[in-house]
Amino acid sequence: MHIPEGQVSGNVEVLVGPGDDAGVYLINGIALVETVDIITPLVNDPFTFGAISACNSLSDVYAMGGKPLSSLAIAGYPSCDYEPSVLKEVIKGAIEILRKSNAVLIGGHTFEDPELKFGLSVTGIVNHKMILRAKGAEEGDLILLTKPIGTGIQTTALKGGKVADSNIKEAVDWMLTLNDVASMLALDAKATACTDVTGFGLMGHAVNMARESSIDFVIQKERIPVLENTLILIDEGMVPEGAYNNLRFFQAEIDFASYISDEEKLLLSDPQTSGGLLITLKEENLAVFEKSGIFFSIIGKVQKGCGRIVVK
Ligand code: CO
Ligand code: CO
Repeated sequence: MHIPEGQVSGNVEVLVGPGDDAGVYLINGIALVETVDIITPLVNDPFTFGAISACNSLSDVYAMGGKPLSSLAIAGYPSCDYEPSVLKEVIKGAIEILRKSNAVLIGGHTFEDPELKFGLSVTGIVNHKMILRAKGAEEGDLILLTKPIGTGIQTTALKGGKVADSNIKEAVDWMLTLNDVASMLALDAKATACTDVTGFGLMGHAVNMARESSIDFVIQKERIPVLENTLILIDEGMVPEGAYNNLRFFQAEIDFASYISDEEKLLLSDPQTSGGLLITLKEENLAVFEKSGIFFSIIGKVQKGCGRIVVK
């Protein structure tokens, strides 16, 4: 969840304020990237939950082109219902992911809550001349997505008892994939804009990138990578409340072709946890991604327009 724009202090040290994936604050020539995110469990195993939550929190630093350095854990839990060992496992999972990202846990805070919640506040650094902002896409750019969508639907199906943990392994593996490599490639490819696909879904984050500009994002539905079995789960009613909310909230800014079904609209609005990077770049720089071997799909193109999303 991102804080909307309009709360910027006006300090010259604030290079990026609310409205982007993370804030950037300049101190003694070093640009700090700061972000916080906290989520409820989406898998049954506490270690895996902690690891996914850490990936999700780190993602906003990578979405800015930064490198995470340190983090603080925030955990809410009902102290009378939970074994302390559960929280320990959650934290262990987070630490494993932090190790992979070369970042450390230096503290944290717990609070009493009826439902388990866990997240990280992360501080990183970024080259202040190479900040990947959510806005900045230019006419003619290609639009890339680096992970398939559908994690919200898949984890809703797990909660609803429609599938077992073993059935959502693909979704879990993607949620445990750091956006570190994708971020580095986006910098190498001189990306014009970048954000990570999280709670607002692919459509919501695309709207955020295009809104109030003179370009449109023209997206080809067939080019969007989707986790296996996701459409079947939608047919079975496994759609999270957030997908309906996102669709309702953003649809006025999206032009869906007449043949796009309601189910597909919900899929494109599915809130993601630890989703991929949504990147715009010049076609001449695409080779950076092609040579890397990393998973990505070119889902569309930036065209002259008025800040809308067009889905064909
Ligand atoms: Co973000
Ligand atoms: Co965020």
